[in-house]
Amino acid sequence: MTPLYSIAEIIAATGGEALNVAADAVSSISIDSREIAPGALFVAIRGENFDGHDFVAGAIEAGAVAAMVSAERAEGLEGLPLIVVRDALEGLYGLARFSRERSKARVVAVTGSVGKTSVKEAIRAVMAAHGRTHASIRSFNNHWGVPLMVARMPADAEYGVFEIGMSAAGEITPLSQLVRPHVAVITTVAPAHLEFFASEAAIADAKAEILAGLEPGGQVILGADHPNIGRLRDHARSAGVDAVTYGFDAQADVRLEGYRGSAEGGGARLSGNGLDVELKVATPGRHTLANGAGALLAAREAGVPVEVAISVLARHGAPEGRGLAYRLGPEPNPLVLVDESYNANPASMRAALDVFGQMKAQGGRRVLVLGDMRELGAGADELHRALVPAILAAAPDAVWLAGAHMEALAGLLPEGLVAGHATVAEEIFQRIAGGLAYGDLIMIKGSNSLRLGALAGEIRSRFGQ
Ligand SMILES: Nc1ncnc2c1ncn2[C@@H]1O[C@H](COP(=O)(O)OP(=O)(O)OP(=O)(O)O)[C@@H](O)[C@H]1O
Ligand SMILES: [Mg+2]
Repeated sequence: MTPLYSIAEIIAATGGEALNVAADAVSSISIDSREIAPGALFVAIRGENFDGHDFVAGAIEAGAVAAMVSAERAEGLEGLPLIVVRDALEGLYGLARFSRERSKARVVAVTGSVGKTSVKEAIRAVMAAHGRTHASIRSFNNHWGVPLMVARMPADAEYGVFEIGMSAAGEITPLSQLVRPHVAVITTVAPAHLEFFASEAAIADAKAEILAGLEPGGQVILGADHPNIGRLRDHARSAGVDAVTYGFDAQADVRLEGYRGSAEGGGARLSGNGLDVELKVATPGRHTLANGAGALLAAREAGVPVEVAISVLARHGAPEGRGLAYRLGPEPNPLVLVDESYNANPASMRAALDVFGQMKAQGGRRVLVLGDMRELGAGADELHRALVPAILAAAPDAVWLAGAHMEALAGLLPEGLVAGHATVAEEIFQRIAGGLAYGDLIMIKGSNSLRLGALAGEIRSRFGQ
């Protein structure tokens, strides 16, 4: 076991007190008592629905060598190996600061309204081909996810990449100051989490907070394909930060031109800022290629050769549920499933519809399953209605509508196009899957809370090899 921290380091980093701790080091950090690896430090933080302090005994039983607990909750835990701190979450921030301080890694932080995980995973793949890489898992991007991910960075990591998210102004600043990136990426600015923002410009301002933690001499890499790119550039300028923009926009510093896409992926010429190369990625969609460009630029600035990035990205697909295409069953007429079940907001919905519009079925029908876009606040109905032209432009043969907002579109789409709808998505899963055949193309897109991922799973198991 490679130690992550000695107990002495944990004490120094948190100002805590060790009680009954026999181990002299920990090999990992966890906040979930169900995912304890032997030798772990369990950190008892309070979540929305649970309090880690209720699971300390279970965590120790599962193999944790110590639990970091808040002083006021230490009562009743006598005899267990504890590191008692004023507040366990604060303790986790202490560990994260210690971790970042000792690290020699080149560090990238990724934020944006959509595409954070997609770009973070692409950067991870590129970096990992060139050196020891530590990356945030899944979408661990909030006020406890970021410190947890930074605290988990091994001392010998050469590269680090972290996802930073937010749902309100002021949240990114402290997280960026914790990550202290050498390179920051803002993928895009789009309506998402609109409940907490008056305008997209206000969202752009909040994303620009990522500049607050940038290391001196650091660079910010900005996706350019959105209306607020000028505003982000202004933020960089007034912060005195070097900015490089990328995208399909003709004004971008690094431009993608001549996009060619297929069900297997897409490619284009990438030029500007010292580059003139052919870039390819293994998932369809202009936005996915743009994500690849952002990843290439971030990795380049972090010290990875451009050729390494190009060869890794050419084989790199989107993470699960984010546009990955599956060919299920016998060639040459498989059922093609495009799984976009992880997330939906107006930007990613339009991007997905654009991809679908360019895809052909393998002899069968082209089917869309559209689920609600959640967390859009008061304008939600309007933002759903505004999708109608994009749905029609994608020219599906059949559309299934799931969730209250999408259901409302049934009356706005031509008669005969809507195959079925339900407020509770699960109610139509069997009908959707039962109506498919080899040769069909189906895209599933909606917010994660609609659980359309279960439909994707059902289709994969019914039609998979
Ligand atoms: N640049 C982009 N523009 C538009 N849509 C995108 C872009 N990148 C990814 N998407 C789509 O947006 C959805 C979410 O992608 P992803 O999980 O990478 O975003 P995220 O910002 O990490 O989301 P979250 O806030 O849930 O962590 C997916 O459906 C994906 O296909
Ligand atoms: Mg994410």
